[in-house]
Amino acid sequence: MILLTSGSMNTAPPPTIPLLRGPVPLSHLFLHTFVRDGHRAVDATCGNGHDTLVLATLVGISGQVWGFDLQQQAINETSRRLTEAELLNRVTLLNIGHEKMAEHVSAPLQVVLFNLGYLPGGDRCIITRPETTGIALEKSLQLLASGGIVIVTVYPGHGGGAEEQSAVENWATTLDPRAYHSWRMGQANVTPDAPYLLLVQKVL
Ligand SMILES: C[S@@+](CC[C@H](N)C(=O)[O-])C[C@H]1O[C@@H](n2cnc3c(N)ncnc32)[C@H](O)[C@@H]1O
Repeated sequence: MILLTSGSMNTAPPPTIPLLRGPVPLSHLFLHTFVRDGHRAVDATCGNGHDTLVLATLVGISGQVWGFDLQQQAINETSRRLTEAELLNRVTLLNIGHEKMAEHVSAPLQVVLFNLGYLPGGDRCIITRPETTGIALEKSLQLLASGGIVIVTVYPGHGGGAEEQSAVENWATTLDPRAYHSWRMGQANVTPDAPYLLLVQKVL
């Protein structure tokens, strides 16, 4: 007979312990490591605002976040979430494509975050595209502080996802290793087309 006590491995982890189900919580661990009070950060794909809220919390009262999304619905939902958390004053939300980020943000940036694909609960035909994602990734590197990071959650599984994966992989794998640390991280016990993380740190 197995007796379960409060110290047993079968009990749920306390709420402060992150559960690493897929790449998004893993990306948040990196945000917590790299983003400090006063930093500048970009959420390149606001969507429903979950990641923007994490960034807004981490940059503190003296920091600044810029959030981009092509869809007004996403900007509205992100705005609602930030207002509820009383953090909207740290965030500039832009209903503009992230490929134009250089015209709207102030460098140097500590983090630029991409969560590719379609808006959960929204129109699945509106997806991030390799051409514009590629431009935005290049701009991100130019705007990044030394030691700063670009994080990309890649979704190979939806229509158009494989093409975008190929473009983003080509970008990440051909960066000069003297200037950038480029990493790929994915959960091992999932299907091959499951989402995963790319992380690029600017050295110089
Ligand atoms: C997977 S969702 C992002 C999820 C979001 N990070 C969250 O926490 O809910 C991808 C978003 O990218 C947006 N998007 C697509 N192309 C874009 C572009 N060129 N510039 C900015 N956003 C874009 C979509 O409208 C969609 O809301």
